[in-house]
Amino acid sequence: MLVSLRPYALRCDHRATPLGIDEAAPLLSWRLASAHRGDAPLAYRVRVADRAEDLDEGGQPLWDTGRIEDPDAIGAVYAGPALKSRTRYHWRVAVWPAERTDPTGPTAEGGSAAAVEATSWFETAFRGADEWRASWIGHDPRPIPVMDAPTEGERALDDHGLAPCPTLRRAFTGPAALRARLYVSARGLYEVRLNGTRVGDAELAPGWTDYTRRVQYQTYDVTELVRDGENVLAATIADGWWSGFVGFEPRRAGAHYGAFPQFLAELHIDHADGRTTTIVTDDTWRTHTGEIRHADLLMGECHDLRHAADGWDLPGFDDTDWSPALITDTGHRLLVASVDEPVRATTALRPRSITRVPHGNGGVTADGGHDTHIVDFGQNLAGRVRLRVAGLAPGARVVVRHAEALDETGRLYTANLRTAAATDVLIGDGREHLVFEPRFTYHGFRFVEISGVPRLYDSDVVAVALHSDTPWSGAFDCSDPEIRRLHDCVVWGQRSNFVSVPTDCPQRDERLGWLADAQVFLPTAALNADVAAFFTKWLRDIEDARTPEGGFTNVAPRLIGVADEGAPGWGDAGVIIPWHLYRTYDDPRFLSRALPAMRAWIGLIHRHNPDLIWRRHVGPHFSDWLAPGVPTPREVIATAYFAHSTRLTASAAEVLGLPEVAREYHRLAADIRTAFSERFVTTDKNAEGDPTVRIAGDTQTGYLVALAFGLLPEDATGPAAQRLAELIEKAGPALQTGFLGVALAAPVLDAYGRADLAHALLRRTDVPSWLFPLRHGATTIWERWDGWTPGTGFRAPSMNSFNHYALGSIGEWLYRGVAGLDQSPDSTGYRKLLIRPRPGELGHASAGYESARGTVTVRWERHDQTLGLRVQVPPGASAEVHVPTDDHGSVRESGAVPVDGEHLTLLATIPATDTASGHSVYRVGSGVYRFTASYPSRPTYPSRPTGGYPTAPVASAGPRRAPSPAASLAGSHEEDTP
Ligand code: BGC
Repeated sequence: MLVSLRPYALRCDHRATPLGIDEAAPLLSWRLASAHRGDAPLAYRVRVADRAEDLDEGGQPLWDTGRIEDPDAIGAVYAGPALKSRTRYHWRVAVWPAERTDPTGPTAEGGSAAAVEATSWFETAFRGADEWRASWIGHDPRPIPVMDAPTEGERALDDHGLAPCPTLRRAFTGPAALRARLYVSARGLYEVRLNGTRVGDAELAPGWTDYTRRVQYQTYDVTELVRDGENVLAATIADGWWSGFVGFEPRRAGAHYGAFPQFLAELHIDHADGRTTTIVTDDTWRTHTGEIRHADLLMGECHDLRHAADGWDLPGFDDTDWSPALITDTGHRLLVASVDEPVRATTALRPRSITRVPHGNGGVTADGGHDTHIVDFGQNLAGRVRLRVAGLAPGARVVVRHAEALDETGRLYTANLRTAAATDVLIGDGREHLVFEPRFTYHGFRFVEISGVPRLYDSDVVAVALHSDTPWSGAFDCSDPEIRRLHDCVVWGQRSNFVSVPTDCPQRDERLGWLADAQVFLPTAALNADVAAFFTKWLRDIEDARTPEGGFTNVAPRLIGVADEGAPGWGDAGVIIPWHLYRTYDDPRFLSRALPAMRAWIGLIHRHNPDLIWRRHVGPHFSDWLAPGVPTPREVIATAYFAHSTRLTASAAEVLGLPEVAREYHRLAADIRTAFSERFVTTDKNAEGDPTVRIAGDTQTGYLVALAFGLLPEDATGPAAQRLAELIEKAGPALQTGFLGVALAAPVLDAYGRADLAHALLRRTDVPSWLFPLRHGATTIWERWDGWTPGTGFRAPSMNSFNHYALGSIGEWLYRGVAGLDQSPDSTGYRKLLIRPRPGELGHASAGYESARGTVTVRWERHDQTLGLRVQVPPGASAEVHVPTDDHGSVRESGAVPVDGEHLTLLATIPATDTASGHSVYRVGSGVYRFTASYPSRPTYPSRPTGGYPTAPVASAGPRRAPSPAASLAGSHEEDTP
């Protein structure tokens, strides 16, 4: 029998086949696909077993939910017998389709369709810290020799006081493995090798946490790498976030968490004869230092090949002159299995142009005479360069410096990196055919300056992008090339800044997990990618960072030197993020884990602000950060966030089945709303007798927070929205909002019938606007609307990042508004879709999204006077589809007049207003629907020049002259117009 409904994309705690979990009750989830209209699940059954065959009929699974009727279910939390350590578990989901009445689809025999199954697995690591046997080991830092003094003629090499990276090795003999697992961590960063082969592809592992609270470890399957006879397990470790430079406290290298890097590993080998071998880090390991003379996330990395010990990671190497490893301690209490995707090198970009700067032209020549080269990769990114060098004389250097932009002389503009040296160095030993790629650092850059190589060809160098490898889940497209590029910029901002934690920027000496930046960007991020696992990890960082009084902080992981006490909109991320993740992924554990901290946060603000106006304990009150124009009164923003967080806390309690708690917070939220109105809202009537509303300060952000967070009495919302629109129109139309206000602007305007104004903001090309930076060469979102302007050049370098995702929060509205792919306010996990395109003056737009439930797609296009809208709704979901039209009678679905039936019902017809077209609103079930309707003709977008932006990395034909600074930001208009 043909069955079309099927489960796919099986996940364990939001990851596909995770190796090495330590969660006692993981969520086993699936998505649903079907080719047929109206397909929906009726029931599911999950079985878990430690032998695959026990999943089959007649087997003995450890856990079997039995058949559970729940048409909404897309996952089940494991509730079987306690999971054992270091065990692979197989699991299977069976989904029964609801009976189908659609004659076009296959029907089940005998009226009840058979279940369709899918199978996956997960594997546990150590279930308890007491199971670890390994000791933390390192290279005794005292005898590490300092860097050799530079020789005559060489530019002094700044090692920033950093020590060489220790190498560690342990030889052992044994038979080959039936199964081998390596459990590994570092205080610092590690790269492990087994018999000369690199283990895994994780970069910057074990990732950044507050190491005083939690240290992550990773698990690798190394079965294939263990061989018969002598084996060598080897590692290089580096300072990383543990003992390197972190954030903007340059004096604090080595002072945040620890003084020198340490390593921890257990290799468990099961042999065919039933014996096991366990190799753990202890004082039988040997240590030395190798060619990596220093490696630091901010400063960069130096490889001196004169210190390379070939074969050090292979059997047979003589390590007698190495020292025994230093055992630092045997603490395992803080160890946790990592729960997110590792950072990986995912993309390599070829140069877009290479410009040769002749020696003697003021160029820095690190090798006593060669020209330097400026490479433009055409894309701002986070990562590093992989460089092929033909050969280097002993002591000769290649220096790679990084920057986001060029200055007016065509040289690297590095002032905005502040103290981040972002310089990588390779020192030769006479060898030929070298490939240089740093391993324990990353930089935010588009340009690099390479000195020390006589010639540089396109094929010699690539930029390697690094980021947490969250699976991409969304796609957006539209007819306006600049808006398409804006979406690309937003995605690249995400790619560059999700690096173990969501950072503000990847280039300067900061790169911190700022809570507000992540809060405003999350709705966009969660459409672009599946960030469930990434944020599961970061929510733990937020939890770890909490102040002794229970407050959320401004950055997580918490860092010495950064004001702790959470500011309004920053600390509130501790409430807002779990709520949004719950809604996106339909996983209430985001709420149950966070609820105590949410309550503590609200309690703290309430305690210090009994009159419900939040003005005390506001931390550093960043207000509406970087808003141009008149500042919004701080109390307005703070109190609005207080109300919003309180209401979300109430909703979380409701979801978790705690009605008493919910009531308490709903009551408080209502009181805060009243206090907000009494204190900040004035109502009046204008000359025509229409009601007017003013919010203290009369700023755009004031109205935005009040409307977005539902703080106004019903009859005040219309006039408030009108005032907001007036303010925006008066300003340009333009925004005068900062990080907090920007995120709310388009959604609020849209919600109050002014999608036209949201479109106008989107189309704007002067400062402040999203397209201004694009017109001036941006390939990622800038921290400031005016980070560089033709008149004044660069803004003050003390805070001017060209890769900051916060203002990229508009990405959400591209999906939800422009394309129209959204879920209803009361929906979770995209169970109830809201498809409501806002065409504006665009010719077409489309969005695809891999939701927690399955694939959702929306595509609309306009031809002449007709709009076509194609919608794909996953099984078990329904959608409210708003077909934009002023003529309800013109609507067709799949070519026919829609008739209310099982899969489609007309809900409403909404008349046009003077700012928006009308809508015919239908409820549809799962499947694909193709609507057409007449649509009022509006001017289409004027076609715009694309400004020489590289749509794909282009290899340049050869060396070029240095582009002008404007061109460096503007994408070298005159040089590279395609
Ligand atoms: C960061 C921001 C952050 C802010 C706090 C800046 O230095 O780059 O993105 O949110 O500080 O106001």
